[in-house]
Amino acid sequence: MSRTASLYHSTVGKKVLMAVTGLILFLFVIGHMLGNLKVFEGPESFNQYAEFLRTMGYPLIPRYGLIWVGRIFLLAAVGVHVYSAWQLWVRSRLARAEGYRKVKDLSFSYASRTMRWGGVLILLFVVYHILHLTTGQAHPDFVPGDVYRNFIVGFSNPLVVGFYVVAQVALGLHLYHGVWSMTQTLGASHPKYDRWRRSTSGALAIVVVVGFVIPPVAVLLGLLS
Ligand code: HEM
Repeated sequence: MSRTASLYHSTVGKKVLMAVTGLILFLFVIGHMLGNLKVFEGPESFNQYAEFLRTMGYPLIPRYGLIWVGRIFLLAAVGVHVYSAWQLWVRSRLARAEGYRKVKDLSFSYASRTMRWGGVLILLFVVYHILHLTTGQAHPDFVPGDVYRNFIVGFSNPLVVGFYVVAQVALGLHLYHGVWSMTQTLGASHPKYDRWRRSTSGALAIVVVVGFVIPPVAVLLGLLS
């Protein structure tokens, strides 16, 4: 087996894949959260921004070329992230069945269980979210291209905002543990840095949750219309 193949099959290799794809998704989430805050600049600015994202690179490259490259890249990152998580979970279950029957690290198993179910909830949320605000099948009155209007109408329903808030809290918990694990896998684990890693992961998770939750709640409170 080549060195790359044996690294891929090793637990460390899978953790590295999870960390790298997790970092890619994390950067997307930060960018997306900051972009959403542009909704406070008003309909024209927000719709222009959305159009810019869709047509980036045009006319140098085809009109929707870059956004599709981005979508495929993100989808691949999600696929590798989820598949590696699944493989690591199967591996840890097999290892547990063979040994460690008595010794159980409860805090670790709690964290990893939250990661698993939180991850599934986030996946379900993203599917609903795309049908809600990108393709419109889950939106009560979708107008293609009028992202601002779709945003305001979409978040006028308290149940929808409630689901978004729950999903963002799940995302925040996932990021809290995920950023911590990622920095560990990528080599920043040292007693000297551990407190700093813990507080940075927590602060980043809080910023992401608050940043995402503010615009839908502002719509619900009538601060955006
Ligand atoms: C309160 C939280 C969120 C709000 C208000 C929000 C808002 C939006 C809006 C308005 C769009 C449509 C943009 C357009 O059509 O131009 C969009 C698309 C999208 N959002 Fe979110 N989003 C949120 C959270 C998230 C999260 C947590 C994720 C991923 C973990 C995510 C992933 C996506 C994806 C993948 C798209 C589709 C992009 C595309 O292919 O065009 N969103 N979001």
